[in-house]
Amino acid sequence: MRVTKPVFTGLLALAPLLVSMAAEPAVTLTIDVAHPVHEVSPMLHGIFFEDINYGADGGLYAELVQNRSFEHAEHLYAWGTVNRDAQGTVTVESGDPLNAKNPHYVRLVVQDAGRGFGVANYGYGGIAVRAGENYLFSARARAGADYHGTLRAVIEDETGRPLGECQTTGLSAQWQKFDAVIKSSGAAAHARLVVLATAPGRVDLDMISLFPENTWKRRPNGLRADLVQMLADMHPAFMRFPGGCIVEGMDLPNRYQWKDTIGDIAERPENWNRWQDAIGDQTAPQYYQTCGLGFFEYFQLCEDIGAAPLPILNCGMACQYESAQLVPLDQLRSFVQDALDLVEFANGPATSEWGSKRAAMGHPEPFHLKFLGVGNEQWGEPYFDRYRVFRAAIKAKYPDIQIVTPAGPGVGDRWWELAWTKFRGGLPADLVDEHYYRGPRWFLDNAVRYDDYDRAGPRIFAGEYAAHDNGRRNNLRAALAEAAFMTGLVRNSDLVTLSSYAPLFAKAGATQWTPDLIWCDNTRVFGSPSYYVQLLFSRNRPDAVLPLKLAGACLKADEFPGRIGVGTDDSAAEFKDVVVTKDGSTLYHSEFSGDSSDWKASGGAWAFVDGALRQTAVEGSAHAFAGDPAWSDVTLSLKARKLGGRQGFVVSFQAAADGLPTRLLLGSNGNTQNMLEIGGQLWSTYQRDVPGTIETGRWYDVRVVSKGRSIKCYLDGKLVSEAIRRNVQPLYAVAGLDRKSGDVVLFAVNPNEKATDSIIDLEDVTGVTTGSRAIVLTSASADDENSFEVPARVSPHEEALPAAGARFLHTFPANSLTVLRLNIPQ
Ligand code: AHR
Repeated sequence: MRVTKPVFTGLLALAPLLVSMAAEPAVTLTIDVAHPVHEVSPMLHGIFFEDINYGADGGLYAELVQNRSFEHAEHLYAWGTVNRDAQGTVTVESGDPLNAKNPHYVRLVVQDAGRGFGVANYGYGGIAVRAGENYLFSARARAGADYHGTLRAVIEDETGRPLGECQTTGLSAQWQKFDAVIKSSGAAAHARLVVLATAPGRVDLDMISLFPENTWKRRPNGLRADLVQMLADMHPAFMRFPGGCIVEGMDLPNRYQWKDTIGDIAERPENWNRWQDAIGDQTAPQYYQTCGLGFFEYFQLCEDIGAAPLPILNCGMACQYESAQLVPLDQLRSFVQDALDLVEFANGPATSEWGSKRAAMGHPEPFHLKFLGVGNEQWGEPYFDRYRVFRAAIKAKYPDIQIVTPAGPGVGDRWWELAWTKFRGGLPADLVDEHYYRGPRWFLDNAVRYDDYDRAGPRIFAGEYAAHDNGRRNNLRAALAEAAFMTGLVRNSDLVTLSSYAPLFAKAGATQWTPDLIWCDNTRVFGSPSYYVQLLFSRNRPDAVLPLKLAGACLKADEFPGRIGVGTDDSAAEFKDVVVTKDGSTLYHSEFSGDSSDWKASGGAWAFVDGALRQTAVEGSAHAFAGDPAWSDVTLSLKARKLGGRQGFVVSFQAAADGLPTRLLLGSNGNTQNMLEIGGQLWSTYQRDVPGTIETGRWYDVRVVSKGRSIKCYLDGKLVSEAIRRNVQPLYAVAGLDRKSGDVVLFAVNPNEKATDSIIDLEDVTGVTTGSRAIVLTSASADDENSFEVPARVSPHEEALPAAGARFLHTFPANSLTVLRLNIPQ
């Protein structure tokens, strides 16, 4: 690369374009091509997998039969009896089962087999089959001595028309596995698998299974090829598994236990899925984990798609929001041993105890495990007590394993605060796992989140994140906010070395959590706009970050002047001792006597009573504002007391004439939470982050400190909400160098409704050559989503860029992510 730059080359290239550009370019992006700041973590962009939204069973795991082992609480769930001019009974039995881990099976007792007697499975909302394709049927069966028939398995379409079948013979008094191939003559979206006895007598059946032959890499017990392809296309650097809350379990018996997920699938005990009672989109009481997609299949998938495995293990704690069960420290040994054994299962020689199990499953070579998570969204001293035990044991035996340690379920709350106090206070940690499920605005404002983070502490794993746009599914607005945030992850990838969007999969009509990255039904799949954001960042990840300066009159400074206020939503409250200070000087002190006319109220019933400003209507919204619209960087303190109603009270600040005030909602959401609302968006859309109840009749001290972009809110001296507020910028960007191609890679996000014209100024190069391109993700509206019908409405398109000088114009369309790959002459 040449480092001398003819000063005016760029301007010449600029001249013809300037003619067509209506206004002065808004932003100049100056990229110092010759002086990389730091390397970009090669692990930066990965994926997070959890069996939520039927992501595993019914989703990625290609098994077509639901409840194949009859171990759901409703043992015959997804099954029906088939009686074709026959006489018989179907019962669920548990005497002398297939094995102790799979204790239930069905018994057919047939008096008259007629045209067939047996059971039919309806899959996950139907079994989808394709014409001309093979399906692998298997079942465990045994028969009474009186039975002289065969076992007939038929794929039938929704009208009962047979599409293919097989017959197995040789049933005996012992459990045996029967395998056969069924070729489907036709296609059906809602087929069923019918398994029939063909003669009178007794037949016991278990583990009735049907897989497409055409799974990913045509593996038996395999994964859906189309879904794996979506993952492979992302080029993920790592894959987190198996979650998520599922790691923790609602209670300890429900926790994910990796040892239950390897070996013969008939020996893997089924576990109920902790998402079955989710109060999200839908409950699914018969949602179970077969663990057919277990740890072996997971490691194999990682290997296939070139992702480093990153398992998260239970640390002796069940979900702290639910049962909060704890394993006493003196009984933690087996949990720690499970962690050590997992490393051996992944990496140990084929002669070792656990390595031999891996080898027996067909993979004598190691899986090269380098990361291990201890706990999911754990917090507090009980966690750190357990973490220390795990860490000591893991590091003693496997010093090179990088341990992932949660910072709690969210950021900015007291649990997160405690975690960082510990890590910065000397508690060793390799990778701290931070999670954020917030509004799009949070992501925009947090594009700079890590710019000033302390580099002396542990590295960060942005382990779960997604922008939640007021309950909408997956729109472009949310995706662009994530993209803006990700420019910050790349810029700070010396610190944030791993990141993953969550959750990964959603099965349409069966979701417990939205938004999600990839949507599927039984035959189709599409990526959300967020999917394309992840894909673009991952596939264009540069090797090093280049210094990038943004300049321009339209860049907005992070100043938020405004008045202050108090109020209520469906409650009555009173306020007193309102004080506003700035740099130690008092700007305002309330009197609340007869002529405090500086307060302007709307809604509610306001009065000055006993030196307080009292609002007594318990329904509707009521607000009163005071002060100077020019006040900025102030500290507001006051006393507040709830008098009645269903919520707490509201403290407002930064109330500018041309925008919504910032509001601290104390005892919001039915008096269960404290929240911060900025620009009309709740700072915490993750409902469990900040529990908070305001007692009636008690005076509380409230203090809000706003300085520049920082907001800190305290209740009775305790931090309850913290935010970084920024003005929405015309562009969020990061630049890097792709050493292999020599390309300068620029990620630029314009989340605004109008295009941003810019000058790109490349320092120390002569210009860009043909072969340069812009990859653009945009759509007509920020509300746009993808769907099965229009799967690529929001998807990237590529444009060739003309050769140009080192300084050229580029317009970033409204609502867009652009990846510029600039070919630099070598
Ligand atoms: O991604 C969905 C859930 O969000 C995960 O299971 C959990 O870790 C987080 O609360």
